[in-house]
Amino acid sequence: MTDSDLYLFYHGLLLPKIVHTEDSLKYFEWFQVQDDDVIAVTYPKSGTTWMQEILPLLLNGGDFTPVLTIPNWDRVPWLEESRTAQVIDKLSAPRAFVSHMHYHLMPSSFFSSKAKVIYVTRNPKDVLVSSFHFHQMASFLHDPGNFEEFADKFLAGNVFFGKWTDHVKSWRNTDLGDRILYITYEEMIQDLHGVLERISFFLGKHLNKDTLKHVTEHCEFKTMTQNKMSNYTLVPQTVMDAQKSPFLRKGIVGDWRNHFSSVLESKFNAAIFEELKGTDITFPWDE
Ligand code: A3P
Repeated sequence: MTDSDLYLFYHGLLLPKIVHTEDSLKYFEWFQVQDDDVIAVTYPKSGTTWMQEILPLLLNGGDFTPVLTIPNWDRVPWLEESRTAQVIDKLSAPRAFVSHMHYHLMPSSFFSSKAKVIYVTRNPKDVLVSSFHFHQMASFLHDPGNFEEFADKFLAGNVFFGKWTDHVKSWRNTDLGDRILYITYEEMIQDLHGVLERISFFLGKHLNKDTLKHVTEHCEFKTMTQNKMSNYTLVPQTVMDAQKSPFLRKGIVGDWRNHFSSVLESKFNAAIFEELKGTDITFPWDE
């Protein structure tokens, strides 16, 4: 299949047609964000599914019913995807969403609302690795080719939702003040309990010690891989082939070391550093 069979272009970004249509993007543009909405924003493969597990638990006082009974894509829907219109009426306040959209493309109601944002970043080398395996298992994305070829596409932004650096720069440079909380995938791996405490505080939700401990255990990688509502095994194999690579694949920091040659590492670092020049953006690059 060619790229034009698989993707549509939206403000210069490639979006997979399977979940993004002209209509869903119009719906997104006119979406009425509410003041008590919470939106987890990520570049793809940075921890979106993880946030779809965490947010309902923290927002509902540790009630496990939603995460054990509703698939993640309906429980915490994407603002920009076609299914959202079908499930929106079933969401109770405070609503939680995820989005991969760049900051300046958010719906206008978002900017005038008081909705809170949690922006999750992940080491781009691990994002690339995760995305490479995802492209191998997802039939709605292009064949990634070999790892070096895919790295070139990633650096050029010829992948879904465009360049990683553009995404990060757009969300690191907002007027949102204390409406936005920045966390990293690496912090969550290192101290999930501590990050959940920070998120709870940011959301103004107090969970008692025992509840927070249970929520933390439930959101650990091993537990999440067993949750059918979150591990994408409900998706037909023709769409996502877990035999090629499970969606919840390794859930670790530093898998890039198993994929990058030293030549690619230098090239990748140089390209990313060049694009981040003049910003104060830093990440735990070498973990
Ligand atoms: P890997 O492919 O490196 O394993 P997204 O949800 O944004 O598409 O990101 C998917 C990545 O987040 C995958 O990375 C997946 O395993 C990881 N992930 C999801 N839940 C996780 C968890 N509870 N702990 C650690 N990693 C998790």
